[in-house]
Amino acid sequence: MPSHLQSPCAEIDAQLIDRVLEITINRPERKNALTQAMYAAMAQLLNVAASDPQVRVVILTGAGGAFTSGNDLADFLGGSASSEDSPVFQFMMALYQFPKPVIAAVSGVAVGIGTTLLLHCDLSIAEDDAVFQMPFVNLGLCPEYASSLILPRIMGHAKAAELLLLGNKFDAQTAADVNICNEVVYSGEALERARKHAADLATKAPEAVRLSKKLLRQGTYEAGLTAIREEAGHFQKRLQSDEFREAATAFMEKRPADFSRFE
Ligand code: COA
Repeated sequence: MPSHLQSPCAEIDAQLIDRVLEITINRPERKNALTQAMYAAMAQLLNVAASDPQVRVVILTGAGGAFTSGNDLADFLGGSASSEDSPVFQFMMALYQFPKPVIAAVSGVAVGIGTTLLLHCDLSIAEDDAVFQMPFVNLGLCPEYASSLILPRIMGHAKAAELLLLGNKFDAQTAADVNICNEVVYSGEALERARKHAADLATKAPEAVRLSKKLLRQGTYEAGLTAIREEAGHFQKRLQSDEFREAATAFMEKRPADFSRFE
């Protein structure tokens, strides 16, 4: 394993096998909730892999039966930011601009950015018992990572509004039906399936693969960047709001949030 592809963070693992870089979120005791250090490590790995010819494909996955429960809420409450110089923003940009195929292997929970990052992968494989959720409104937040732009485009306004405004959990078959995922496989088989697709892609002509990915995204690239930036600006302000403070405190205290005093 070349040293520049080693993870700088204990809770993110990186492994290069046969030109496939596997990035594993490894904090199962918190359902792989993401801290700033973990975002920074993933951003660094993606940025290095982008220009390293030893890497042809990236797999993103989670350890211990979870993909990720999204941003660590204690981190958010502690004042961590989503401004453009923050690790989370740098991770979003590194994945958004990544020039080679990225395959997500989803088991267990994929919540918040755990769902929205799938919109920026090229293939997503979900296990049949995986659970998805975009609970931003429930947390007093707003959509992020261009989800307010991409979701209506891929599934229509009504379904996007349902998933973003109600913010309920949904299953893997629904995720596939609304084009968030490509395939649903049996529990325990997502990583194996992702590795098969990755091995296949790693043998294809690399320049042809990169050019095809670029062309696929070209028509919506600038609009996506604008949406990511605009949403991040709102999201950053929402993190300072009393509505978010109530929601995140309620989560920590294991009680329902009470928004009745807000106007
Ligand atoms: N941030 C911080 N801690 C988190 C977390 C998160 N995003 N997600 C889970 N955890 C913690 C839980 O508080 C719990 O801690 P505890 O053992 O001290 O009680 C531990 O991880 C295990 O999670 P638990 O809730 O017991 O697992 P579950 O399988 O019943 O539910 C989730 C999993 C992901 C559905 C649930 O934990 C959840 O809704 N988490 C919050 C997700 C979220 O809102 N993310 C932010 C989106 S912007």
